[in-house]
Amino acid sequence: MSKPKIAFIGRSNVGKSTLINYLLGQKLAKTSKHPGKTRKHDLFPYSTKIDFVDMPGYGYAAVDGKKREIWDEKMLELFFEDTWFRHLFLLIDSSIKPVKIDQEFVRWLVQHKIHFSIIFTKIDKAKAKEFTAVIKEWTGFINLLFNVHGSPKFFQVSGELKKGGAEVKEFLNKMKFEDQRGIVGQGEQG
Ligand code: GTP
Ligand code: MG
Repeated sequence: MSKPKIAFIGRSNVGKSTLINYLLGQKLAKTSKHPGKTRKHDLFPYSTKIDFVDMPGYGYAAVDGKKREIWDEKMLELFFEDTWFRHLFLLIDSSIKPVKIDQEFVRWLVQHKIHFSIIFTKIDKAKAKEFTAVIKEWTGFINLLFNVHGSPKFFQVSGELKKGGAEVKEFLNKMKFEDQRGIVGQGEQG
C-alpha cells in the first residue's frame, strides 16, 4: 500500500542518508564518506502514515551526464506525477556558505511551488560563528523569495550525534496529509 512520501534532497555528501537513519532509528539507508553513494530513489517506511524517499545527491560532478539525466527525470516524476509526494526536505551543510547550485535549486522549488523546508546538517562540525553567518545569508536569500508568512521552516540537525531530530519529527507529526499535495498554492508554503 502506498503512503504519503516525504523526500530528502541536497548536495552529495550533505548527510541525507545519515539523517534518514537517525530519524528511522535504524541504519537502513546506505551512507558513505564518498559522495555519490545514494544512486536511486530508496523508499523507507517511517511510520504507518509516512514513507521517506532517500534521493541521490545533486552537484556531484564525477557522475556521468547520462546518469544525472535519469536522476533528474526521477525527481520530476516524484514531484509532479507521484500523487503520494507531500513534502521535500532540502538539506544544506551548516558549515558551507550558500552555493549557487543550492540557491538555484531553491529558486526552482519556489517557481514550481514545491512544498519544502530546509534542514541544516552537520551542526556538530560547524563553528558557531560560521553557522550564524550561513543562517543569516540563507535567511536573507529566503526573505527575498517569500513573504513573511510563506517562508519554509528551518531545522538544524546532526545525524552523526543524533541531535535536532525531535523538531523534524514534531513537524512531521503535525503535518496534515489528507488532501494536500506536495505542490502548494501561492503563499501557502510552510
Ligand atoms: P549521497 O548519498 O552521496 O548523496 O550522500 P548523503 O547526503 O546521503 O550523505 P551521507 O549520509 O552518506 O553522509 C556523508 C558523510 O557525511 C558520511 O561520512 C557521514 O558520516 C557524514 N555525516 C553525515 N551526517 C553528519 C553529521 O551530522 N555530522 C558529521 N560530522 N558528519 C556527518
Ligand atoms: Mg545518500
